Amino acid sequence: MAGRHTLTIIKPDAFGAGKAGLILALLEQHGFTVKAARVLHLSAAQAGAFYAVHAGRGFFGELVEFMSSGPCMPMLLERDDAVATLRTVIGATDPAEAAEGTVRKLYAESKGRNAIHASDSDENAQIEAAFFFSGVDTVRG
Ligand code: RTP
Ligand code: MG
Repeated sequence: MAGRHTLTIIKPDAFGAGKAGLILALLEQHGFTVKAARVLHLSAAQAGAFYAVHAGRGFFGELVEFMSSGPCMPMLLERDDAVATLRTVIGATDPAEAAEGTVRKLYAESKGRNAIHASDSDENAQIEAAFFFSGVDTVRG
């Protein structure tokens, strides 16, 4: 069964433009609750490690530069069918192809500067949550 957690990042373009509150409100309207959140300015090495799966792709350098260009806001989110639902809510990678009402349609400038990240599988959600948060942030009881 699909899991209840996913990892999102409000990327430096949207965070720097003061859109974090509006984006979080939209995510909450879609039934997500925030289990953990932080704000940090990634180094280039940290951004490259997070997106290591894309190392060697033509856009990797640009992606690392963008993701380390200013503060961003990672959040661990919870709801039923979290990964697939959040991918639908954020929209296509390129905002020109994103559906109406999606985060990227509303707030992204381009395929490179596209406002928000979302995990693409339950396995990666777990890996990405561990990248930004430790057990003390995410465990209750
Ligand atoms: P994300 O991982 O950030 O949620 O984005 P995604 O799954 O929709 O897209 P992915 O293929 O994983 O690409 C990661 C990020 O790399 C940048 N990108 N730029 N200029 C380009 O052709 C290009 N392709 C990808 C985007 O910032 C994309 O979100
Ligand atoms: Mg991706």
